[in-house]
Amino acid sequence: MIDQSPEPPIVNIVGERVALGPFSKDLLPLFTRWINDFGSQLRVGFPMPGPVTAEFEEGWYDSVSTGADRNTFVIRERETMTAIGSTALHGVDMRHRTAAFGIMIGDPNARGKGYGTEAATLMLDYGFTVLGLHSINLTVAGFNLAGQTAYQRAGFRECGRLRERIQFAGRRWDQILMDCLAHEFESPILARTVKPD
Ligand SMILES: CC(C)(COP(=O)(O)OP(=O)(O)OC[C@H]1O[C@@H](n2cnc3c(N)ncnc32)[C@H](O)[C@@H]1OP(=O)(O)O)[C@@H](O)C(=O)NCCC(=O)NCCS
Repeated sequence: MIDQSPEPPIVNIVGERVALGPFSKDLLPLFTRWINDFGSQLRVGFPMPGPVTAEFEEGWYDSVSTGADRNTFVIRERETMTAIGSTALHGVDMRHRTAAFGIMIGDPNARGKGYGTEAATLMLDYGFTVLGLHSINLTVAGFNLAGQTAYQRAGFRECGRLRERIQFAGRRWDQILMDCLAHEFESPILARTVKPD
């Protein structure tokens, strides 16, 4: 008898708690739901938080799935392979070998379980070990303590601040700049893949 069970999701990088893989269009309704949470929009730095339509998300999907800068991964909980968010390296510059890291654990129930820390670690591994980047940076709002903790544990360190740059919850917050250099990072996984025979 032919086994008609659905194919397992495709993944590129498998960690201990999360796996990273390509986007697929069937995930768009879920991501549209998540990105309509203003809390997430404000944390990922939407310039003008507001409703996000399915059509807008489709445009975003088209750009990350077929554009030149295809470095956006779906984050999956490793045990169940359920999609919980996305992460990306933006603006990869192969002359200077730099990129900017971004992440959103969209499923609120999946936050605070170490998934963001590991996803950030795997993205540093991808950027340094596979793409051969030298420097990966990010910005995080001063009020985003979960983000700061996760990024620091992954290997980023603070390298500057734009003071009182962000308005949130009735007060001004610094925008924290963090970066990680290739020689500061030890590949936890991909060095095993990227090695000569
Ligand atoms: C920021 C984000 C990626 C972090 O991922 P995560 O899976 O939640 O983070 P982790 O569980 O790996 O680590 C977060 C740590 O911060 C801690 N933390 C969470 N909220 C905190 C708070 N209010 N104060 C202090 N520490 C906090 C957690 O307890 C955890 O530390 P622990 O493991 O020692 O307990 C995720 O929460 C997220 O996507 N949030 C919404 C969108 C967003 O902020 N994107 C990033 C924009 S820069």
